[in-house]
Amino acid sequence: MSYVIKEWDDFYTLYRNSNPLRWPDINVVRLVKKVRLPKDSKVLDIGCGEGRHVRFFTEEGYSVFCVDASEAALNVCRVLYGIDREHLININIESGLKIFDEGSFDLILCWGVLHYIRNPERIIKDIYNMLKNGAFAILSFTSLRDERSSAAHICNKYEYDEVIDLVKNIGFKLLNIGLTENSFFTDNKIESYYWVLVEK
Ligand SMILES: C[S@@+](CC[C@H](N)C(=O)[O-])C[C@H]1O[C@@H](n2cnc3c(N)ncnc32)[C@H](O)[C@@H]1O
Repeated sequence: MSYVIKEWDDFYTLYRNSNPLRWPDINVVRLVKKVRLPKDSKVLDIGCGEGRHVRFFTEEGYSVFCVDASEAALNVCRVLYGIDREHLININIESGLKIFDEGSFDLILCWGVLHYIRNPERIIKDIYNMLKNGAFAILSFTSLRDERSSAAHICNKYEYDEVIDLVKNIGFKLLNIGLTENSFFTDNKIESYYWVLVEK
């Protein structure tokens, strides 16, 4: 296990296991409601963490697959939301996402994750390939104004135009993009990220 993944595993084991975030991001809720997927749609949450969006997807009646490098995070998803073991995939996505067949999913979420990845473009291409034609992805990208997502991790930060170019060059149709900024954290630092809804 790399030291970065160990940090995540410790974070979920020591902190979030006993005090998990349970509420989905409002932007995720809004974008998911916009695409109006039928019940039983197949949804993949990449870098799902302790599963606040897994919970939301499950309550919407979707069949959810969860990917995370932290086994402790996946264990929280299993215990809290009753996710079957076959739907919990413990991998480091730096090695790619080829474990799923092309055209498998109706919706893929990758939220709060891409800034930690060495080659986010490759992951977004994998996301494109794993979607059915006409299916959707919801992605977040840390903006240049962000002051929080740093630590020892890799941190890819984007400008508005770079996000648009990135998803369009991969082949996605851009349906929606926005910027969200929050400064209500105890450290007074700004959290700033772009979110996109794209269609294959
Ligand atoms: C900031 S958390 C976001 C969790 C969740 N998406 C949410 O919105 O609550 C980032 C997550 O990405 C996972 N992660 C980071 N690097 C990863 C990698 N290389 N492969 C798989 N998961 C990774 C971490 O374990 C962590 O659960």
